[in-house]
Amino acid sequence: MSAQCNVVVLISGSGSNLQALIDSIAHDGNPARISAVISNRADAYGLERAKQAGIATAVLDHKQFEGREAFDAALVEAIDAFEPQLVVLAGFMRILSSDFVRHYAGRLLNIHPSLLPKYKGLHTHQRALEAGDSEHGCSVHFVTEELDGGPLVVQAVIPVRSNDTLDSLAQQVHRQEHLIYPMAVRWFAEGRLRLDAQGAMLDGQPLPSAGHLIRA
Ligand code: GAR
Repeated sequence: MSAQCNVVVLISGSGSNLQALIDSIAHDGNPARISAVISNRADAYGLERAKQAGIATAVLDHKQFEGREAFDAALVEAIDAFEPQLVVLAGFMRILSSDFVRHYAGRLLNIHPSLLPKYKGLHTHQRALEAGDSEHGCSVHFVTEELDGGPLVVQAVIPVRSNDTLDSLAQQVHRQEHLIYPMAVRWFAEGRLRLDAQGAMLDGQPLPSAGHLIRA
């Protein structure tokens, strides 16, 4: 059985992905342990979820810092105090500096509500609807210096139906996020998932460029 894998989760909001991670880690031999949840917003509901699960929390308000570099440097310090093997962005709505991303190279995962490389950035459900896409979904990827552009680990694909709305799409995507993020974090914690020069590797094999695909 693999050794324990310390995880720090960064959030900005509701933290439903954090909750899915907390719930999955309670299970049978999952080596991931969330040692801390850090938010850039004091009012993030995810902080309550962490407290209820007995997880340490910290708030680092980006507005208290002069610029991105200063905030990110403080964030690195706060994260590294917990000595994580993995840092998980779970709705952390900040663009990260190159220094930050390089510091956590190969141990920084993000979840994004679109089928990357489509719809990097914000308003992904609206953009998928407006484009008339027949499929939408979410992606877990390693974070690199290219915004929402790092090697893909897993994507969940959902069909877009003619009666879908922003809300219905958001709900369906969230449901899939709650399945694929715990899966990817567990793979990493078990030592099955890593990033090397060839890209994202699972069980020693390069993952396809779209990552492992799951169809709802
Ligand atoms: C999730 O849908 C996640 O994909 C998205 O924020 C939401 C957070 O929800 N992240 C991004 O858009 C990052 N670019 P949650 O707080 O309920 O987990």
